[in-house]
Amino acid sequence: MCGIIGYLGAKRVVPVLLDGLKKLEYRGYDSAGIAVVEDSQLTVRRVKGKISLLEESIRSSPVDGKFGIGHTRWATHGSPSEENAHPHQDCTGSLVVVHNGIIENYLSLKKSLKEEGHKFLTETDTEVIVHLIEKYFQGRLEEATLKAVQELDGAFALAAISTQDPDKIVAAKMGPPIAVGLGDKEYFISSDINPILAYTRKIVFLEDEELAVIEPEGVSFKNFKGNKLKKTVDEITWSPLMIEKRGYKHFMLKEIFEQPQVVRDTLQGRISLERGKVLLEETGLSPQLLKAIKRMVIVACGTSYHAGLFGEYLLENLIQIPVEVEFSSEYRYRDFKVDEESLAVFISQSGETADTLAALRAVKERKGKSLAISNTVKSSIAREADGILYTHAGPEIGVAATKTFSAQMAALALLALYLAQLKRKIDKKATLTLIQELQRLPHKMEIILNAEKSLEKLAQSFLPYSHFLYLGRWISFPVALEGALKLKEISYIHAEAYPGGEMKHGPIALIDNQMPTLAVIPKDRVYEKMMSNISEVKTRNGHVLGVVFEDDEEIKDKVDEVIPIPVTDPLFTPFLTVLPLQLFAYYIATKRGADVDQPRNLAKSVTVE
Ligand code: G6P
Repeated sequence: MCGIIGYLGAKRVVPVLLDGLKKLEYRGYDSAGIAVVEDSQLTVRRVKGKISLLEESIRSSPVDGKFGIGHTRWATHGSPSEENAHPHQDCTGSLVVVHNGIIENYLSLKKSLKEEGHKFLTETDTEVIVHLIEKYFQGRLEEATLKAVQELDGAFALAAISTQDPDKIVAAKMGPPIAVGLGDKEYFISSDINPILAYTRKIVFLEDEELAVIEPEGVSFKNFKGNKLKKTVDEITWSPLMIEKRGYKHFMLKEIFEQPQVVRDTLQGRISLERGKVLLEETGLSPQLLKAIKRMVIVACGTSYHAGLFGEYLLENLIQIPVEVEFSSEYRYRDFKVDEESLAVFISQSGETADTLAALRAVKERKGKSLAISNTVKSSIAREADGILYTHAGPEIGVAATKTFSAQMAALALLALYLAQLKRKIDKKATLTLIQELQRLPHKMEIILNAEKSLEKLAQSFLPYSHFLYLGRWISFPVALEGALKLKEISYIHAEAYPGGEMKHGPIALIDNQMPTLAVIPKDRVYEKMMSNISEVKTRNGHVLGVVFEDDEEIKDKVDEVIPIPVTDPLFTPFLTVLPLQLFAYYIATKRGADVDQPRNLAKSVTVE
């Protein structure tokens, strides 16, 4: 949801900014721009469209500078156009700002700033920030910024530079993330750590209501009251290589193939075969507290929500307490209650999704207990929840989530088994059987991924269709939802997912030979029921592709195409069944020429409501 970058150091600034923007492009890609300063000369270059167009523009008419800031945009206020692209300038043309977030009171601020004589050139909310800083500027950029942020309502991560106070970048945070990279006499600011990692692993994460002042002598930090802060420096272990495509055509394909390793890494160190136990003391929530939990709610968006649904079926099965799953954007506005015996679990890959963060805060306001499951160390959700369980998926760059889904399921499986142990709902033998199977999953996942070519062929033969139905029941229903979401978001094809048993209450009317059905039918407690649902599709001329256990002979005459997966415990089938659906969506989308890593209208980290 917009990416911001800044650099001050000995390198030429433009390549550093462009390289950083490319790594942030997953956050938004409808326009981009940079502003650089050299010898009191400010140059701004902006384009509508992707970073490659900005690069092209700079190649054909070079710009240069000693320090600067950049931005890649996902439009909220004002259409994606060159005028609305960041950085935005003040009336004097000496001050520029880039911004990620939404300024909620921008209309009233704009009105009063206009009355004071400021000239506005864009439809954006961001432009009020630059004029506010201009209004308060008396020679020191940080002081003007501190005054300006007092007047802003809403969410912002921003960076400002000025020719009137040169060799300085000021960054401020109230909501969306800002990481500050501390290199050797060079400093970076960025919306996430990926652009910084090529230069330094030393990172300071700004908290809300904090400001960083970057100068050649170093970086200083203040809170919005103007008090100096001493911040801790984190050493990041992610390697810059993790964010390269490494021979794959797309990040999405690479990330699909990383899933076996991601599951291994997320399980690593958290299970003991010798003791037949899951070891999850790391979350920060005490075993006594967790043992006493009688109700759970899982709150998340998008793919993380689907992982949450998987968690619901699993937790209910293993610990037999009520578990509900809610969309963050709905839950935060509900009149929900929390009590001493309930736990709210927030799942977020990025740890920055605005609705999930707001839902977490709503739970905390009611004094509820919270646990976050996140892939991003020190993200807002990870920091604010009472407990944190990290997934170890490494950076996910493809906008459509794949490997983080598997990692979230692995984390939920660990959580469910750990709670079952604490609550004595499972004995050692049963735990051992399940954790052994969890450990076998990565190998089984590899078997499916190695059969990738057959899925590519299958996708080829389904290219002409524009509507798909996805069916699943019980623990396969979340997989059907996730399969349909993948197809929709990267190929722009209409796909509906339904629980098999609910199909007869509506979607069955859509079935004909133009609407193929992808059915997830592992042998589990609803297998026979799914068979009936498939017959209902077949008798209406529907074409059925079944994701089924490889040893399932019975199903072969019941479906038109068989997509085999290795046999596993019914509780863990989603780890396997989701893989062919991801590959199917990937191949349909790429064969249609879609940009799978950066699908239209989407952004990876949605830091606005
Ligand atoms: C966006 C992304 C999805 C993701 C969702 C939730 O919509 O495009 O891939 O599942 O946000 O993100 P989170 O970081 O909270 O898991």
